[in-house]
Amino acid sequence: MSKRIELDAPNVGKLEKEYLNNCVDSTFISTFGPFVSEFEKKFARYIGSKGSVAVQSGTAALHMALYELGIREGDEVIVPALTFIATINPILYVGAKPVIVDVDSETWNIDPEEVKKAITENTKAIIPVHLYGNPCDMDEIMKIAKKYNLYVIEDATESLGATYKGIQTGTLGDFGCFSFNGNKLITTGGGGMIVTDDEKRAEHIKFLVNQARDNSKGYYHPEMGFNYRMTNIEAVLGLAQLERIDKFLEKKRNFRKIYQKVLDELPYIRFQQEYDNASGSWWFTCVKIDKNNIDIDKLRLKLKEEGIPSRRIFMPASEMPYLRKFSKSCLNTYKIYNQGICLPSSTLNEEEDIRKVALIIKELL
Ligand SMILES: Cc1ncc(COP(=O)(O)O)c(C=O)c1O
Repeated sequence: MSKRIELDAPNVGKLEKEYLNNCVDSTFISTFGPFVSEFEKKFARYIGSKGSVAVQSGTAALHMALYELGIREGDEVIVPALTFIATINPILYVGAKPVIVDVDSETWNIDPEEVKKAITENTKAIIPVHLYGNPCDMDEIMKIAKKYNLYVIEDATESLGATYKGIQTGTLGDFGCFSFNGNKLITTGGGGMIVTDDEKRAEHIKFLVNQARDNSKGYYHPEMGFNYRMTNIEAVLGLAQLERIDKFLEKKRNFRKIYQKVLDELPYIRFQQEYDNASGSWWFTCVKIDKNNIDIDKLRLKLKEEGIPSRRIFMPASEMPYLRKFSKSCLNTYKIYNQGICLPSSTLNEEEDIRKVALIIKELL
């Protein structure tokens, strides 16, 4: 293939350079300055949330959500086995116990039936992960949460722009956590956002991430805090990216349609299915190749020879030595891991590139 195909490279250019220049000229390059709050406000408006706090990463956002809710030692938090490790580590940061359950075989998202089975008297929260931009079964998850009086922290780090019943993911639970890592739909280089409609809690998190500093009394810290603040350099990148988000989303959704059009002709190809009334953002388009003898690493090597980068599906969390003891049986997760692959999804690609990629994959298979 002549043109370089990008897997998940960020789409940054003229506008980002202009905003970065303005930021440097203003001298407000660190955490103090006007751009962070501007980004927080515009992000909250975009997704329809009352409160928002910009932080250093999606991991920090998840950590702060758990911390703010008072989840601590002796508490249990239910999470899917099929996710990036950063969904689970913050549960350990606060001293609580992750309870790792299987995902649904078709949507690849946490299976509400498995959540129900995992609930004990110590369960405090559920973290549904909208994997690769595919919204979870939020009606069912919220119903369970209400019945058992549990908090819901949405891991929306991969699903910015995805909606469930027309509502943005990340705004359906008690908290929503977003990531602006370099490979995400929009990037700030590295950063995150925590959103909630509980403005009091948002205000408290804003205070916590600034070393819990009471500014009215100088260097007075009435409780333990963290340094999880976003910088203004990062925030201006976010402001520029936010202006371009609709184009990025349109591209990602079209890429998936193109892959589907070409690859659906193969009977053993399975795309992640959407729940009714959900609209995925498709941060990544991934497929499962339902053939028993498929060797994903070999396929990835062949694709590489054709100039096509790809990514493996996240390894089941239960494979990590320090998490094994927290895991339930996760057969679907293992199947998706063994048979799945993430395809080039960067918005630097054009539709024509994706069509060519899809045709090559079809031929190779
Ligand atoms: C599912 C999931 N959770 C959490 C994170 C953590 O985000 P960050 O890398 O910004 O800390 C990521 C992304 O990297 C992710 O994919």
